[in-house]
Order: sequence, then C-alpha cells, then structure tokens
Amino acid sequence: MRPESLKTRIFLDGADPEETRQVIKALGFLDGQTTNPSLLAKNPEAQAHKTQGNKFSATAIYQFYKELCQELSGLLPEGSVSIEVYADETTPVPAMLEQAREFDTWIPNAHIKLPTTTAGLEAANVLTGEGRRVNMTLVFSQAQAAAVYAATKGAARGAVFLSPFIGRLDDRGENGMELIKNILRMYGAGDAHVEVLTASVRSMEHFLCALAVGSDIITAPYKILMDWAEAGLPIPGPAYVYEPAGLAPIPFEPLNLDAHWQDYRIAHPLTDAGMAKFSADWNSLIDMDA
Ligand code: E4P
Repeated sequence: MRPESLKTRIFLDGADPEETRQVIKALGFLDGQTTNPSLLAKNPEAQAHKTQGNKFSATAIYQFYKELCQELSGLLPEGSVSIEVYADETTPVPAMLEQAREFDTWIPNAHIKLPTTTAGLEAANVLTGEGRRVNMTLVFSQAQAAAVYAATKGAARGAVFLSPFIGRLDDRGENGMELIKNILRMYGAGDAHVEVLTASVRSMEHFLCALAVGSDIITAPYKILMDWAEAGLPIPGPAYVYEPAGLAPIPFEPLNLDAHWQDYRIAHPLTDAGMAKFSADWNSLIDMDA
C-alpha cells in the first residue's frame, strides 16, 4: 500500500518484467518504470538470445523492445513507462521524431526518452508541441535543466520529466545529489511544468536523500526498491543528513529560466559518453549484416 505521506512517485529502473511484478508485490504499488538500451541489453531474454549466439535484426530489436514495453505497460496501466530513442552523436532530429512517434503507438502511457543535446531538445520542443510526453535523459548540469524547461514551455505538468544522473556524477567525484537540490531550487521560480526524476540511483542513501529533498519522481534499481520495502518504506523528512565523503560540492548557479533554449550552454562530457554507451549497448544486440 502506498504510504499516505509519500509525495514522490516511485519508478523501477529496469527492463525485466519479472522484477516489475516482484516490486509491485513488495511495495504494494509502483508508479512507473524507466528503461534504456543498457538495461534492455541486460533483459534475461535478450541475454539468452545473445548467449545462444543470436543477434536481432535492425527491425527485430524494435519488435522485442515493443513487446517488452507492452508487457510493462500492462503491469503499470496507471503509471508511466519510459522508452528511449536510439541516438548517437550523428542521429538527426527527424530520426528521433520518427522513433518517438512510433513508440507512442506502442502503449498509451509512454514517456519518450531523448538525450539532453541540441538535437534532443529540438525533438522535445516538437514532440511536446504535439502534446506528447518526454523524459529528457543524461542530464548532468543545471544549464541542461534550464534548457529543458525553456524548450518544453507550454507543456502540461506530467508531460515532461527531467532525469539528472546522480550516480554518474558521484563516479567522477562530484556530489550528484546537490544537482538535484539545485535544479529543484531553480525550478521553484518556474511554472512547475517539468518534473524532476532522480536517476542513476546507486544506494539507499541516494534514494532516501532524493525522498527527503522532495524529488518529484525517483527511479531506482530492483535491489534498492526491494530493500526499501524490507525496511518498511521509510520516508525521511527534510532533516535527513546525507554527507557523502570525498565528493566535491556542486554550487548553485543563478540561471534565468526565461532565455531561449538554444542560448544555454548545455554541452556536457558525461552526456556524450552516456549516449556513446547507450548506442553501443543497443548495437551489441544487433546483427548489422542482417
Ligand atoms: C534511468 O532513466 C537511467 O537511464 C538510469 O537510472 C541510469 O542509471 P546508471 O547510471 O546506473 O546506468
């Protein structure tokens, strides 16, 4: 049963429907699920396919992803399922739009994941203008968050998720949780049409801190959600203390949310590295000659 005092929506980060079933059972609720190409590559069926020496054709991989998303959507009919477009550094906007519009025919409750790059923002601007829902991924800076806000202005609340990746910032010695706090503070001056979805959650401390600071949504791996259920679904208040050792602070930047989205300095090396890894994991499943 969902605790009454829980304001944050809880998503599962994964691509195995069996995990989704178990988490729904353990928590008594689940508000949605996020997938990505790396998680898809870890799906047990995809793994078995690969171990048997098989690869998908360039069209069969989309069929596989579609069936998976349809199963997840059936398990979470009231929730949201994030489906990520294939994008590498050369993917043009029309190719992102084509995938996004196709994904929207798969299930009624999709949020389309797009990289927070110039092309991804342009695609988000078009898609939200068509009334579609997006989840802007691979966010590592406040400037990217401001650009997402500006590119999707006019969208209804619920239509735009912003996914800052806190674990990947921690990995390079920066306190990723501070980016969440900074974005929530910056968005406090706005119209609340973008919801902050804390992603790349690696520990129970990340999860509890994201609850304490009031992230709109958190996506967390199976193990963390099962541990949270086991602990009785604790919900810490603002007094929760999170002091990770050895991580550099990320200072707040006083950015104006009213600029044009193309005017923000959005380039980030972790966004580029993340896109390269996602596209490599997707391509690892495909027989390029088929
Ligand atoms: C979810 O939307 C993200 O793709 C995911 O949380 C990334 O997590 P990772 O940094 O552990 O790969």
